[in-house]
Amino acid sequence: MDIGKPPLKTTVLKVDPLAPKPSVIAKAAHLIKSGEVVAFPTETVYGLGADATSDDAVRKIFEAKGRPTDNPLIVHISSIGELNKVAHSPSPRVVEFVSYYWPGPLTVIFKKAARISYVATAGLDTVAVRMPAHPVALALISAAERPIAAPSANLSGRPSPTSAQHVVEDLEGRIPLVLDAGETHYGVESTVIDISGERPVLLRPGPITTSDLSPLLGEFREPSQGHREKPLAPGMKYTHYAPKAPLTLVVGNPNGIVDKILALSKRSEGAKVGILCTDETYSRYPDEFVRISLGSRFAPYGMLRNLYRCLRMFDKIHVDEIYAEGFDEVGINATLMNRLKKAASRLLDSS
Ligand code: TXA
Ligand code: MG
Repeated sequence: MDIGKPPLKTTVLKVDPLAPKPSVIAKAAHLIKSGEVVAFPTETVYGLGADATSDDAVRKIFEAKGRPTDNPLIVHISSIGELNKVAHSPSPRVVEFVSYYWPGPLTVIFKKAARISYVATAGLDTVAVRMPAHPVALALISAAERPIAAPSANLSGRPSPTSAQHVVEDLEGRIPLVLDAGETHYGVESTVIDISGERPVLLRPGPITTSDLSPLLGEFREPSQGHREKPLAPGMKYTHYAPKAPLTLVVGNPNGIVDKILALSKRSEGAKVGILCTDETYSRYPDEFVRISLGSRFAPYGMLRNLYRCLRMFDKIHVDEIYAEGFDEVGINATLMNRLKKAASRLLDSS
């Protein structure tokens, strides 16, 4: 707790995801309009929102999360028509493109409009914009009558929250209100792309993959391999998503991975060992381990949805170390591996 700051009372209000009650939305919108922060559900993860046009309001987000101030936020809108209020003259080509994907889990970088707070963009002249698909998020932005800047509603460095309970675990006493609409759908943050240059650049993998986007946008340029004239998503330099115990991520073929984890964990005598496995491999680990299955290897979106909840479960059980199975980085599993690698303190090959 910050010295000199008494804890806030954090209210949690349940809200129907399909038909959010106007009175509940009005309460949350009133807080946003008065320059306060509110945690709300999106289809990806819960966000911590504030008025994107107010420096003071946006500063409260950084304070509540303990987020480094050089890491810019995503600005959320509730209709395509609002895009030209947050972005400076977006090109018709780009407006047409985002209309295919919005509302949805895709964030696009634009030149910033003057009214958007430089605190939200961390001093950049560009702004990351997204129109979420969740009815509660859309209703809140619309009732607040202004764009809402919102990062994930976790303490900086912790796994993003996929339920209101996760938000409360991290931010109770630090924010006034959480809108609780149950678990989020994708369970992982939006895809972030920059399409301002000749070739599109993937800044953060997410629910929408480059194979989904390439037919419309052309081949992506790998930010890590290409020229570095453009900054990467500044947030990607920080540790993220990390559970409290050190996590070793093992890659290779699935059987080899299990054998390697069994061999490694034999050396952990006396330690409480957590295994992040899959439905297909669960029974291959002895039951003295804390086994948590991500779901079936044949249902990758399901594994993605479960990932952050599983990482938080290991924290609750207080394991001493975690071994996680890796996946081939194809299709949506590239997004899963991106987050697993960020959670990992060590990466090993099973061969
Ligand atoms: O699904 C999501 O995107 C969630 C929900 C709440 O919408 N939000 C979210 O926000 O994940 P956050 O702040 O945790 O992640 C924002 C990412 C960071 O990696 C940040 O560096 C990048 O977007 N970003 C923001 N503004 C940028 C800019 N102007 N240029 C490049 N990257 C930017
Ligand atoms: Mg985040």
